[in-house]
Amino acid sequence: MENIKSYINANKDRFLNELIALLKIPSISADSAYKNDVLKSAEFVRDSLKEAGCDNVEICETEGYPIVYGDKTIDPNLPTILVYGHYDVQPADPLELWDSSPFEPVIKNTDLHPEGAIFARGACDDKGQMYMHVKALEFMTSTNQLPCNVKFMIEGEEEVGSSSLSTFVKENQEKLANDVILISDTGMIAKDIPSITTGLRGLSYVEVEVTGPNRDLHSGLYGGAVANPINVLTKMIATFHDENNHITIPGFYDKVEELSRQERDDMAKAPFSLTNYKAALDIDAVYGEEGYTTNERNSIRPTLDVNGIWGGYTGEGAKTVIASKAFAKISMRLVPNQDWNEITNLFKVHFENIAPKGVTVKITPHHGGQGYVTPTNSIGYKAASKAYETTFGKTPIPQRSGGSIPIVSLFEKELKSKTILMGFGLDSDAIHSPNEHFGIFNYLKGIETIPLFYKYFTELKAK
Ligand code: BES
Ligand code: MN
Ligand code: MN
Repeated sequence: MENIKSYINANKDRFLNELIALLKIPSISADSAYKNDVLKSAEFVRDSLKEAGCDNVEICETEGYPIVYGDKTIDPNLPTILVYGHYDVQPADPLELWDSSPFEPVIKNTDLHPEGAIFARGACDDKGQMYMHVKALEFMTSTNQLPCNVKFMIEGEEEVGSSSLSTFVKENQEKLANDVILISDTGMIAKDIPSITTGLRGLSYVEVEVTGPNRDLHSGLYGGAVANPINVLTKMIATFHDENNHITIPGFYDKVEELSRQERDDMAKAPFSLTNYKAALDIDAVYGEEGYTTNERNSIRPTLDVNGIWGGYTGEGAKTVIASKAFAKISMRLVPNQDWNEITNLFKVHFENIAPKGVTVKITPHHGGQGYVTPTNSIGYKAASKAYETTFGKTPIPQRSGGSIPIVSLFEKELKSKTILMGFGLDSDAIHSPNEHFGIFNYLKGIETIPLFYKYFTELKAK
């Protein structure tokens, strides 16, 4: 496309300042104290879509946080790209581990980003990546190079399970009709190694509660004579994996699709350094399911992890007490074909079965969703691949990610269209963690690469 590099160069500072303004709004969807900020963020996105050249822009109210919709139709005979992203962010805690305040964005240079990176909650996930699409649209409309029709759908509940969006998608199939869905909410292998995400894991998230005696008890008077819910819960959790770190829930692996030797060999060709991986995390060894590599463990294999565990006395000093209750939050990352409702049910039945006499258990399912895989021979994939080749000078590597964007499988089911995941984040961006950041290089490379996807997709579709 013409002049894209010079356009970005000329507008670079403004692109950064606009994103910084958006990052200043603490749109934490999980915490109702930030409700007004989440709504303010939606308005910001609406205004920016208008300015970038969308014709119809609206804030669509839902039972939860609104969905920002915008479109521009240049010719109904041309293809339509639907861009999805989210304007909500994860909570910022623990605050004391941030080097700068999460909602006062600063640009700092790092070893990996000598040209600077923006530090703020949401810098990469997903405000920074979503805003690349807004600026890419601005470039195309203002230089008269938009090659096809476009729709935007930016939601505010991704980090809490996208429940309003699922309803919205089911009720607005015509409005959202498209030829391909384009999302930047994932990562790439390295700053100089572009990749296209071809898979996402599904998710089942449950909370468990183990109750023993009807009240907290003196651990001397009662200790040893009644079931201690914390002892029991940790013992139950310890049985979820066998000596090979295989998950023991009956039926858990029944629908897991085993990859062929060829597919696994192809995966192993992606550049990866175990030494660097360990060094980045300060660990002396990796850990996981026997018979699989690190990259397989975190993408094509399902997992079960305790995300939080609490109960009893955790204050200062010592209190001799047997708690009445113990709790844990557990996530299971799933692979395509595993149904998240089925897995949630298998978990529930198993957890009830292994609970010993003397306690009662309660299992509360939270949100979840299906995994996703997409082929590399579609027009969408080919267009994305060509776009990266042009801007990075390298063919991108297909890669299945371990993360989840549950709404993607719902898009396929309800809108019958494939999603192309053009992520520009890096593992080191620390999404969901303190000091989240997004490289300026990555941000601008995204703005440069996206319009080429539009161009090649339109061209390949016309053939
Ligand atoms: N953008 C992430 C998912 C992601 C990140 C996928 C990097 C692949 C690479 C998304 O915002 C997210 O955090 N998803 C949640 C699930 C959701 C239901 C809360 C996740 O993966 O934990
Ligand atoms: Mn995200
Ligand atoms: Mn996220």
